Formats: sequence, structure tokens, C-alpha cells
Amino acid sequence: MGSQKKIVCIGAGYVGGPTMAVIAYKNPTSVVTVVDINQERIDAWNSDTLPVYEPGLDDIIKKVRGKNLFFSTDVDKAIEENDIIFIAVNTPTKDYGVGKNMAADLQHWEAIARQIRNVAKSDKIIVEKSTLPVKTAETMEIILNTGSDVNFEVTSNPEFLAEGTAIRDLIEPDRVLIGSRETDSGQKARNELIEIYSAWVPKEKIITTNTFSSELSKLVSNAFLAQRVSSINAISAICEVTGADVQEVSQAVGADSRIGSKFLNASVGFGGSCFRKDLLNLVYICHMHHLHEAATYFENIINMNHYQMQRFVDNVIRSMFNTVAGRKICMFGCAFKANTDDVRDSPAIPIAQTLIAEKARLVISDPKAMDNMNEVLGKPQNVSFIDDPYEAAKDSHAILIITEWPEFSSLDYQKLFDVMVKPAYLFDGRNMINRKACYEIGFNVNSIGKEALIH
Ligand code: NAD
Ligand code: UGA
Repeated sequence: MGSQKKIVCIGAGYVGGPTMAVIAYKNPTSVVTVVDINQERIDAWNSDTLPVYEPGLDDIIKKVRGKNLFFSTDVDKAIEENDIIFIAVNTPTKDYGVGKNMAADLQHWEAIARQIRNVAKSDKIIVEKSTLPVKTAETMEIILNTGSDVNFEVTSNPEFLAEGTAIRDLIEPDRVLIGSRETDSGQKARNELIEIYSAWVPKEKIITTNTFSSELSKLVSNAFLAQRVSSINAISAICEVTGADVQEVSQAVGADSRIGSKFLNASVGFGGSCFRKDLLNLVYICHMHHLHEAATYFENIINMNHYQMQRFVDNVIRSMFNTVAGRKICMFGCAFKANTDDVRDSPAIPIAQTLIAEKARLVISDPKAMDNMNEVLGKPQNVSFIDDPYEAAKDSHAILIITEWPEFSSLDYQKLFDVMVKPAYLFDGRNMINRKACYEIGFNVNSIGKEALIH
């Protein structure tokens, strides 16, 4: 018999939905409710078309929804009825006021703290699932415990899942991190969380720390991952002008077990809703503590990323005789990475916007993310979205590979070449194609971090 806990998660997004689905699945005797103020999202979670695309998610949802996993918009009721409250609301970069374009916007967070304080009638364990500035737990405790008879124990349990592999990451995590106070009630809260995760995560993978170490570790993890991508992208620029091959360099460097081989794929730049946001968050924290050199260090990871995206699209324009006006350009992929429909902060956005500003006619093909991309671009007239890559490439002057969807490497490039305007260009932003074969077909091939192959 497993534990019988009453768990709620506030925020039914990319994190709240999948995370709670796995917790419910692995803790069948506990009851898990996910609430959100967004009615449309909750309706989608209760339908056959889930609001986020994630491989394996549908199967798990089908197994638990209506049994011990429920989706609702009644936030007050859920706060009142449950003992453990995970909070997985969005914490975007502030776009107004003090700390604009850098600090985390904690308005949703603060609103929830007040709502919990006003509604709760019994003791609660509060779990920070969102990514937050270090010491947010302290602020949260002040808001919650001012003028309330109820005991609120604030813990930190950041989420490390990556989109596209969320279910695998949740089921087989590298680690689960739980930060809490060392007081009696802090330890009790920590044990409750350990019990939930022990249902499937080996004990040695559950790391416990103080609350602030846990909060900071999440920001640092993303900063380190982003730093690796920016480092290899900086190297890709050197490779392109020296005759070195970035994939060979990655392999050689990554073979050193102290460095490791993961996250060394040169690309059009990193995207996603978190790397830039969390780096900016870290930069802001550094400035707040007058650690300006540390701030500059982390800021340069973002600067390098902007440079890489710009470098890619500048190269497209330059290679095509400095004008793409009126020419049809085909983008393969717009999701920020493969296996997701998410386009938040996708490199595809600034690349598309630059080409639109240059008056190119864009055709975008992506297996999952086209609707989101159309929305983000503001449904412009000179951009069309076509499922079939061969249809998309018809009469185009160039193909740009932006997202590493595996299907793009197995396309028939001869067939694509045949329907394109000549000279036909191929810009591989993910190093996925057999570039030599494509060159022999007739393409002018530009690959990230490799010398161009031009006829
Ligand atoms: P999201 O935007 O997909 O979902 C957040 C949800 O919170 C939205 O549906 C929103 O309506 C809801 N919400 C906001 N205010 C609310 C309120 N007052 N009451 C109820 N619901 C409210 O965001 P996400 O991608 O799931 O990210 C959530 C957090 O997790 C962020 O802090 C993010 O940094 C972190 N994170 C995200 C990922 C990821 O892969 N997306 C991974 C790890 C951590
Ligand atoms: C990232 C982290 O990997 C997660 O651990 C973290 O929980 C999450 O952020 C978060 O906090 O939101 P995610 O952004 O979903 O996950 O995806 P990643 O696999 O990290 O990829 C991020 C970006 O880097 C993508 O655009 C990807 O294409 C790019 N990337 C990644 C490269 O360009 N090269 C690489 O070698 C790896």
C-alpha cells in the first residue's frame, strides 16, 4: 500500500501537467489535482487533444486521468482540500519596471502566495516547482505567515525535465532535488516529498539540500548547459574559417571524461522558454549583489547565442548574393528543438523575422509547431506553412534546417533539389544531413561549423 497523499499543483503547463501525471501514475493511492486559471488549457487537459505535445504523455494521462489525476479551474477548492501544494506557474522575464528585461517576473507567484494564505484553513507544505530567484522561499514565507494561524512550510523542488523527453526525464531522472529548512517542520516536509519520489526514484538519486542551494542549483544547471552550447557555437565560428570540423572537434573534446560528450552539438543557437530567462535571472541576481564581473560572464553566454543566430541568417543572405527579396525560402523546423510543439524563444523566430524584413517569401514546415509559430509571428501574409517538406521546398531558392527533427535527415534530397530554383542552397543549422552527398546532387551546402561546399 503506497502513501495516500492529497497533492495539488497550481499551473497546468509544460511542467505542471507532465510532472503531476507521472507523480499520479507512480503513486496510485495518492490523489493529484492540477489547477489553472486558464479554462482553455484545463479543458484541453480533460480532452483527447492535450495542450502540450510530449512523446509518451498521452499514454500516461489515459492511465491516470479520472482515477487519481484530475484537472480543474477551481484553485480555491484545491488549495483548501489538499495538504501538499506544488506551484508550477510561469516565471517569465519581467517586461516592465525595475529589472525590465532581466529580473524574473514574480507577479503570478506573489498572487498565489496571497491566495493560498487567504484560503488555507489547515497546515500546508508549499513546493516551489517553478524556477525562481534564490531566496524566493524566504519572501514566500513572509507573505504566507503574516497574519495567518496556519503553518506553511516552504520547500524547493525544482524541475529538470527537458521538453521532448519530459516523460523519460521524469521517469528516469538523473536526480531529484529537494531543498528545505533543517527545522522539525522542514524535515517533516522534506520527508513527505522524499516519500512521493521514492515510489520510483532510487534513494541515492534524491538529493537534499538547504532551500536556497536548491533554488540556486536550478539556475546554475541551466546556465551550465547553455554555456556548453554557447561555447561550442563560438568554436563553430572558428571552424568555418579554418577548415576544422565542429563535429570532429566536439567528438575529440567530449571524449575527455572530465568534459563529457553531451550538449556539444553546434546549432543555430539555443532556444526554449528557460535558458535565456534563467541566465538573465542569474545576471540580475549578480548585479543585485554587486557581483558585476560574474554578471558579465553569464551575460556573454546570451550574447554569444544572439551572435550565433544572427551569424546564421546573415550567412544565408550573404551567400545568396546579398538579396533574398521576393525569393522563396523554405525553413525546415520552427520548434526550438525536436519532439516538441513549443516555439518559445525558438531561434526560428529571429531568423524568420530577419528574412521577412528582407522581403523574402517564407515557407515553414514542422511536424508539430506550425500553429504556435504562426501565432508568434502574428500570422504574416508572406509566410505559409506546409506539412509536406517536398511541397514546401517547391520553387524555393534555399532550404534552412532549423530544428533537429530526425525526419529531416532521412528526406530524399535529390527529390528536393529537383523541385527547387537553381542554384539551390542548403543551410544546415543542425549538422543533420549528408553534406557531401547533397553537394554532389548539386546543392551549395553551408553547414554550421564546417567549410562551405560551393559549386
Ligand atoms: P507554462 O506557461 O507552460 O505554464 C504555467 C501555467 O501557470 C499556465 O498555464 C498559467 O495559466 C498558469 N498560471 C499562472 N498564474 C496562475 C495562477 N495565479 N493560478 C493558477 N494558474 C496560474 O510554463 P511552464 O513551461 O510549465 O513553466 C513553469 C515553470 O517551470 C517556470 O518557472 C519554468 O521556468 C519552469 N520549468 C520549465 C520547464 C520546461 O521545460 N518548460 C522545465 C523546468 C522548469
Ligand atoms: C532545458 C534543460 O535541459 C532542462 O534540464 C531544464 O529543466 C529546462 O531547460 C528548463 O528549465 O526549462 P529544454 O530547454 O526543454 O531543457 O531543452 P534542451 O534539451 O536543454 O535544449 C535547449 C536548447 O539548446 C534547444 O534549442 C536545443 O536545440 C539547444 N541545444 C541543446 C543545442 O543547440 N545543442 C546541444 O548540444 C544541446
